[in-house]
Amino acid sequence: MAQEQKNVVTLPARAVDKNSVTMTDNRTGQSYEFPILDGTEGPSLIDISKMYAKTGMFTYDPGFTSTGSCQSGITFIDGEKGILLHRGYPIEQLVAEASYLDVCYLLLHGELPAQIEKREFEKSITMHTMLHEQLTSFYRGFKRSAHPMAVMVGVVGALSAFYHEDTDIHDPLQRMIAAHRLIAKMPTIGAFAFKYSLGQPFMYPKNELSYAENLLRMMFAVPTEDYEINPIFARAVDRILILHADHEQNASTSTVRLAGSSGANPFACVASGIASLWGPAHGGANEAVLNMLGDIGDKRNIPKFIARAKDKNDNFRLMGFGHRVYKNFDPRAKVMKETCHEVLNELGIKDPVLPIALELERIALEDEYFIEKKLYPNVDFYSGIILRALGFPTQMFTVLFAIARTTGWVAHWKEMFTGDDSHRIGRPRQLYIGPKKRNFKRVENRKKSMPDWLKMWGGRNG
Ligand code: ACO
Repeated sequence: MAQEQKNVVTLPARAVDKNSVTMTDNRTGQSYEFPILDGTEGPSLIDISKMYAKTGMFTYDPGFTSTGSCQSGITFIDGEKGILLHRGYPIEQLVAEASYLDVCYLLLHGELPAQIEKREFEKSITMHTMLHEQLTSFYRGFKRSAHPMAVMVGVVGALSAFYHEDTDIHDPLQRMIAAHRLIAKMPTIGAFAFKYSLGQPFMYPKNELSYAENLLRMMFAVPTEDYEINPIFARAVDRILILHADHEQNASTSTVRLAGSSGANPFACVASGIASLWGPAHGGANEAVLNMLGDIGDKRNIPKFIARAKDKNDNFRLMGFGHRVYKNFDPRAKVMKETCHEVLNELGIKDPVLPIALELERIALEDEYFIEKKLYPNVDFYSGIILRALGFPTQMFTVLFAIARTTGWVAHWKEMFTGDDSHRIGRPRQLYIGPKKRNFKRVENRKKSMPDWLKMWGGRNG
């Protein structure tokens, strides 16, 4: 056997009849059998949960590109075909026919609500929209200029201090109440973060309004004037919420699941999801898109930015392009693009960034680099433009995403208790590449070994 073949494990073609896979360690010639799990849709998975016990080896998959972390019945994505289903329903149909709270119910409970269930669910969410008055004073500890996502992480985390004693995660009723509280309070928390940044009084929720209407009013009304809700705005916000409600095991949802796997308080778990969502590679992308379009400033500058995105020595990426799962198109981006044009047409808004966005999309989609790497506009490419047209400041974009995704987070959190028998504390393994065991050196015997601190922290210029 050739030397370079020795250190590999070969996976023979899938043994369909036996529903298992045989792996052979070419170093020893020993074979191991692993079961294949078939879901209702999508690729099968090799069950390697007994791998370490059988082989003494772990698997290596940084970024979890090929690793399933759980069983889930909530959302299905086919990235090659551009399909997104929630509990089996295509996202396009949900956006056209359902409200955000219908989708919340669907994600949480598995079915669309019947009339009476819809009424009861909407009532329960409405009844939980207010914040404990003590929590409102929590805002005052933040700088007015703080990023609202930082405020969200803090305030949602603080909810765990308000609802810890009456949140027994092993009690289904208390789990349900925690889920309803989170979905109901997020728009209030987000809108209060915005009001705080402006120095304006908090606008309390109003029970007669829909979820999206309430959000708009709490964001944009002031106590001194009547606020008329534009139904086109409310519908657009509702659509944006639906499009962001869930996306299976993305970074923030996996964060919530991992945090929740230890039995942690659900409000604290959702705060960890918000932190993960904030990053520009995830939910922070719609804010980053608008910043990027502003930096481009003029259609004539687009080629310069495209060239930067392709340059390996430049960290710049075309924000709003590319997706870990969608390698054809993002079905949410399609709907978002339509909504974007609808909103801008209805409102007669001529946003100077829109022609830049459209031209950027056209050029990128014809560019060999983007075609070869299957980089298409994702949902965030257009959502930022809509939100700006609706009057949301850029820093609030990811907050809207967090409000919407709360439903997905709590649906997955709930599923860990109800849907997946294999649920255990999450604990990934690693390939250790640090020093081997060595003896402690007293300070007088140590040589200065790290002359360059920048290099030590991953800097390039060291
Ligand atoms: N611009 C330029 N090049 C890109 C981009 C981009 N937006 N996205 C990926 N690439 C390139 C990478 O440089 C890499 O090139 P290489 O193979 O030569 O090294 C290749 O495409 C694959 O990229 P990865 O980073 O390995 O892909 P991954 O699946 O890990 O990342 C991600 C996906 C994070 C979304 C990435 O495409 C990206 O950073 N996009 C911009 C940020 C963004 O829009 N995020 C929103 C995601 S959607 C959401 O969270 C709702």
